[in-house]
Amino acid sequence: MAKAIKAGGINILRRLRYFRYYKKFAQCGANVILSRNGLILRPEQIRLGDNVFISSGFRISAYQLKFGNNIMIGPNLVIECEDHIVDRVGVPMMNYSDSKKFGQVTIENDVWIGANVAILKNTTIREGAIVGACSLVNRDIPPYCIAYGVPARAQRPRFSNESLRAHLEMVRSRYTFEEVEHYFQRST
Ligand SMILES: CC(C)(COP(=O)(O)OP(=O)(O)OC[C@H]1O[C@@H](n2cnc3c(N)ncnc32)[C@H](O)[C@@H]1OP(=O)(O)O)[C@@H](O)C(=O)NCCC(=O)NCCS
Repeated sequence: MAKAIKAGGINILRRLRYFRYYKKFAQCGANVILSRNGLILRPEQIRLGDNVFISSGFRISAYQLKFGNNIMIGPNLVIECEDHIVDRVGVPMMNYSDSKKFGQVTIENDVWIGANVAILKNTTIREGAIVGACSLVNRDIPPYCIAYGVPARAQRPRFSNESLRAHLEMVRSRYTFEEVEHYFQRST
């Protein structure tokens, strides 16, 4: 009981720390925890599902950014949904009046992202994926794989075929076994 009250108090404090963001999110599910030392640009562009934990030291520059449910993210996350435009002749890049191009990022359900990961625009990390520490995500990550590297690529499946079939059914996945296989093969 005392433990539950303490946890509730900590969650309220966490919410107060980022009150300016929580009130602006386009959607914010239950049990969303943002740790210390975070910065978010354009929070109104963010939809968050339930049970999302982002560890300390994050920077998120958002545009059509979606988080599903049950997501764990390690320290020092960077999400950049924007790039500078770089091809105007005769003008320093920082003097362009419309200096940015934007793209979406989607993180589907049940994803674990390790420490020091950077995610760039126009990417989707699909359901059940793991992104290893110090990776750069600049392309889609297939469902239920372990991916890492710079750039991050699917290295191996998370489950054996038999376990994957059972898991997809138990969690009522949006993917069939064949679809998971297809995404994995397409990415390697
Ligand atoms: C991706 C990860 C989950 C894989 O764990 P694992 O299955 O136990 O993998 P292993 O340690 O057995 O490594 C297998 C191979 O992958 C390589 N590898 C593992 N993670 C890597 C990473 N993030 N980047 C590059 N290579 C990696 C290993 O060097 C090893 O290569 P080798 O076979 O040539 O020796 C883990 O390495 C990782 O990055 N975890 C994140 C930890 C973290 O950031 N925690 C913060 C709190 S959320």
